[in-house]
Amino acid sequence: MIIGVTGSAGFIGQNLYSHLRSLGHQVIGFDLSTPICQGGPGITGASVSEKGMPFVDVTCDLSVAVPETAIQECDVVIHLAANGNPSAGWGCVLDSNIIATRNVFAACANEPNCKRVIFASSNHVSHGSNCEVSTTSKLLPGTMSPSASMVDTETIPDSLYAVSKVFGEALGVFHSREKSFEFIAIRLGWCLYEDPSTQKGQQHDAYLRSMWLSLSDCLGYFQAAVNLPFNEGNCIVVNAVSNNTRKTMDISHVPRLLGGFFPKDDSESFFHVK
Ligand SMILES: NC(=O)c1ccc[n+]([C@@H]2O[C@H](COP(=O)([O-])OP(=O)(O)OC[C@H]3O[C@@H](n4cnc5c(N)ncnc54)[C@H](O)[C@@H]3O)[C@@H](O)[C@H]2O)c1
Repeated sequence: MIIGVTGSAGFIGQNLYSHLRSLGHQVIGFDLSTPICQGGPGITGASVSEKGMPFVDVTCDLSVAVPETAIQECDVVIHLAANGNPSAGWGCVLDSNIIATRNVFAACANEPNCKRVIFASSNHVSHGSNCEVSTTSKLLPGTMSPSASMVDTETIPDSLYAVSKVFGEALGVFHSREKSFEFIAIRLGWCLYEDPSTQKGQQHDAYLRSMWLSLSDCLGYFQAAVNLPFNEGNCIVVNAVSNNTRKTMDISHVPRLLGGFFPKDDSESFFHVK
């Protein structure tokens, strides 16, 4: 299969690019000529982006134009490119998350060969009702929006960044209804730390233990979304965290919606090492 990956120089993009190649897919990576990655506490964006260019085949600013000849070749497009900072202001969100997403989806809709778009959405679309979670240990099971399933799911965005992800989900749903392409939105937890206990006692300790998404599980979610049989009009929204003991997002729907896939890792295993 030929798979386009936007934001291929980013943290997830670099790893997904290599993973899909290792599975035998042809991958076309799209990113800025000077990638801008977000990183997170303890991991600078620059340290991520400086490794990124080997994973970029087509340099472009997707908020300006999408190279349609490259999209033409893709059976599936995984749209990761965005400003991933939950504190991003309106200017960044408008360009990199809203206009770029509109441009990518429009290009995919125009290409009959492109049958599926997989969108990197975020856990932030659904926990605006509990904004303290990022800074306190008040995160308790069941305090957040309980489930995402098929597309009738509730959203409570907690930031302009989250609003842009709600926009991406809604636009993808629209395109799937129009039968332009199948759409799968993956509401990613926090995928940046291979060992979440490095953040123990820090500001985001409780949030990370709940929202942790190991890299292996993250790649598993995307792989499962790629592997689903093509089914015109298909439209799926899933939550995507690891199988954390302290998870607050419901992932019980994941095997049903993603062909039997279920994440394997648990953040707590890093906190109980003897
Ligand atoms: N990593 C996480 O924990 C996490 C959690 C929830 C959602 N997400 C989403 O997953 C996606 C990937 O996350 P990441 O951590 O790899 O992000 P990242 O910041 O490391 O990478 C994003 C990439 O998108 C590129 N990009 C931004 N604007 C662009 C534009 N206009 N044109 C072309 N490329 C552009 C950047 O240069 C960068 O390489 C993002 O959409 C992010 O919002 C990530």
